[in-house]
Amino acid sequence: MTAQKQARPPSVPTGHGGPTYQDIIGRDSTPVPDVLALRSNPPQSVEDIPVEHFISQSFFDLEMEKMWPKVWQFVCREEHLAEVGDYWVYDIGRHSIIVIRASDTELKAYHNSCLHRGTKLKPSGSTGFSRDLQCPFHGWTWSLHGSLEHVPCDWEFPHLDREANRLPEVRVETWNSFVFINMDAGARPLIDYLEVMPQHFENWRFEGWHTYQIIEKELACNWKVALEGFMEAYHTPLVHPEMTHVVGDWNMQHDIFGDHTSRDLCPLGVSSPASKLGLTEQDLLDRSGLGDPSTRKQAKVTPGKTARIAMAEQVRKQFSERYGIDLSHLSDAECIDSLKYNIFPNTILYGGPGLPQIQQFLPLGNDPDRCLFVSWGFRPVAPDAARPEPAEPYRLKEEESFTSAPGINEFSGRVLDQDTSIMRWQQEGMHASAKGAQTLSNYQESRIRRIHETLMKYVNDTLPN
Ligand code: FES
Ligand SMILES: [Fe+2]
Repeated sequence: MTAQKQARPPSVPTGHGGPTYQDIIGRDSTPVPDVLALRSNPPQSVEDIPVEHFISQSFFDLEMEKMWPKVWQFVCREEHLAEVGDYWVYDIGRHSIIVIRASDTELKAYHNSCLHRGTKLKPSGSTGFSRDLQCPFHGWTWSLHGSLEHVPCDWEFPHLDREANRLPEVRVETWNSFVFINMDAGARPLIDYLEVMPQHFENWRFEGWHTYQIIEKELACNWKVALEGFMEAYHTPLVHPEMTHVVGDWNMQHDIFGDHTSRDLCPLGVSSPASKLGLTEQDLLDRSGLGDPSTRKQAKVTPGKTARIAMAEQVRKQFSERYGIDLSHLSDAECIDSLKYNIFPNTILYGGPGLPQIQQFLPLGNDPDRCLFVSWGFRPVAPDAARPEPAEPYRLKEEESFTSAPGINEFSGRVLDQDTSIMRWQQEGMHASAKGAQTLSNYQESRIRRIHETLMKYVNDTLPN
């Protein structure tokens, strides 16, 4: 492998010849909030990334030992843990954690392992309701608050210190109705770990929203291969050629805020510099994948407006009519664009009301070549509507198309199929690599580089806690 050690030149994201994201939003009908007007892409090294980060068992083991037990990880929504006794089992590699509501005001999280002989207290991947935590093997039973309440044949255990055999706890905290865990008792609070997110999401509150869809699929690749495929649009012209006409892929803005957070801002309703169709504003609106297809067909771009402005007007109208929610305080960009925030290590949360979703990437078992991809979809609940039960995970088989998942939008399903089918090729190709490394672009893939920089800080114990 040949390492390239020079610092990269200042990024010039206009090398594609098209407008920047800031240029595009500057032509909208509304000013954007400060958080969308800022840019932050500090210089980074341009060193290659070793393929060992993706394919080696020893690197995978290092991640399991040094990184996963130290980071805040998204688990589920508070709505999944609404009643006392509601639980959710979160599995990350070989770690397994039960998150459970212990009282109206308290969530608890425990390592999912019996203190008798180690059996999992709840099956991996399960969710449900439980009055207590009873081991399915011999019946040792803990309260929801973690105290050991019952040991069958307790005369056999005069040596058992019940207080020392409380269930070992895992940190659990919430933000914006999202539940996170951290296995490190000394970890900084979630709110600090999230860096700019609480400030940036002040306009984008998801309390009261509901989860209408959770689709899971096992993928034949490392968790970072899957994650990083969602962190750049450099691949769009080859993997999603039809999208280049209506999405400003290469125009995307990439921002890095700290060790744990970064984002890309992708303009919708404009053509990529890679598109040669020369679409009109009306064409762009007609082809837009956003909003209600039945009304989009009739919508017109009136003189002086753009497809983006018309799309934002549609989104505001739909939110008002369907949910009684007023979006007049939000800019056009917040209503329609893809505002993708990464929370290190494995969660992507979209800001704004237009594309509310999470994408999550989880190592599976002990295998660097496999991961679980999870796609979460959220919707508001109208004030006078009955609150629907939150969705539970629906697991697709590896050979099944995302378009076969119940309730999925056909277009999104096809895009996810395109994204995930290339990942097996990348994983297999890295095993076949003579170069032994990846060479990243200096802007469009800068946030991928930051993932590896932060990962190495955890692996090398150089991140101050
Ligand atoms: S292993 Fe859990 S009670 Fe025996
Ligand atoms: Fe993609």
